[in-house]
Order: sequence, then structure tokens, then C-alpha cells
Amino acid sequence: MKNYTNICLVIAMRAEAQPLIDALQLVEDSSFCPGLPMRAWTGEYRNIQLSLVINGKDPETGLDLIGTQAATLATQFAIDKFDPQLIVNAGTAGAFGENGAKIGDVFLSRDHVVFHDRRVPIAGWDKQSIGYFPVLDVSDLTSLGFKMGVVTTGNSLDMPEHDEENIRKIGGEIKEMEAAAVAWVARLHQVPLFCVKAVTDLMDSGIPTHEEFDQNLKLATENLQKGVTKIIDFLAT
Ligand code: ADE
Repeated sequence: MKNYTNICLVIAMRAEAQPLIDALQLVEDSSFCPGLPMRAWTGEYRNIQLSLVINGKDPETGLDLIGTQAATLATQFAIDKFDPQLIVNAGTAGAFGENGAKIGDVFLSRDHVVFHDRRVPIAGWDKQSIGYFPVLDVSDLTSLGFKMGVVTTGNSLDMPEHDEENIRKIGGEIKEMEAAAVAWVARLHQVPLFCVKAVTDLMDSGIPTHEEFDQNLKLATENLQKGVTKIIDFLAT
């Protein structure tokens, strides 16, 4: 992999980001996005200029913004401000136990990212709706103990039949709510990107996803922090 000296981590939730902010000793950039929810932290890690951007809180509910709209805006602001050579979209996700995934596993994106909840059965728009955003080949990093899978994105935590059908057709292994949006903006700017996703829930476990998510968020975010730190160490010269 190329020598990257300016890397931006794009993360949806504060709870996913905080262990990394602490471990990498990042400091908030209070000039980021005045008047808008998105927030950023920066720092230097060995020879790497690091930035970390989160979606921030919804002013209406006070809850973290999740999903594709906020991720799109956050990524655009991140590129405007930090002009990164590489974007790493980090976060939590669901996976399939039947594929061998376990709670707390950390996956890297394989090959491409797509949307799984867009259905427009008109020639041309069907493909455009699903999207196809190539991700950086990070198979070198599997030596650090990561699994790899195709990441698919939608705006819901649950998985209705329609979405499951699409995910299976696409060969999706990791289901989450931001990656394709982040990857779309990154591709518009021709910034290479890959994803690091820690598993909070197994979609075929029979347990309601929101319960598994709550139960396992802490473990997953700790593993996410360890995984991303290992990757940054690997990339630093
Ligand atoms: N984030 C964590 N688990 C998820 C799931 N199963 N679907 C979408 N986003 C998630």
C-alpha cells in the first residue's frame, strides 16, 4: 500500500469514535463546520496527519445522526477541510453468522461498497441506485488479523425481506448505514477509501438486531479502536 501521510477517519457515532479519539490523542478542531452538527478532531500519529470526522448530533432529538444523508455531508466537509489522501470509513455493522462472522469481529471492506435498500426497476437507474463504489485493495492488512467482506449500506437497522434478498444477490457480508454514501463522495473527489467495520450483531441470530446492537456496542467499539490503531501503525513508516 502507498505511503499515506494524510488520512481522514469518517465515523458516524460519537460512541464509535471516542475510543479512537482517546487512543490516538486527537484534539477537537472547533473551527470545523460552524453552526452544523458535524465535528472533527485532528492529531499527528508518527508521520501521519490524522483527522477524524463524525456526523454529530441531530439538533431536534439530541441523538447522534446516523445514515446516509449525514454521512454524505460529513464526508464532503471532511474533504473540503482536510484534503485527505485516504479516507477510512470506520464503524459498527451487522454480519451473517452463517458466513462465520462473530460478534466483535473486525472486517475490512472487500472489492466494492453498494446500497442494498434502493429499488428502481428501470434499466440504468436500477444499477445507479444500487451503486458500485470500488474500495482500496487492503488484502495486505489481513495479516493483522482482520476478516474481509463486501459492505452494503441502507438507512435501516432492521433487515426486511426485500433488503435481505438484495444483500444476498449482491453477495453482501457486512450491513451498515453509511459506507456507500461516504464512498460515493470519496469517489466524486477521487479519494481512495476503505472501510473497517466491527460486528455488533448477527443478522441471522434470531435476536432482535437493536438488542444485540446495544449489548455489544462497547465490545465492538473497543475492537474497532484496536483494529484501526493497528492499521494506522501499519501505514505509518
Ligand atoms: N450497525 C450495526 N449493526 C447494523 C445492522 N445490522 N444494520 C445496519 N447498521 C448496523
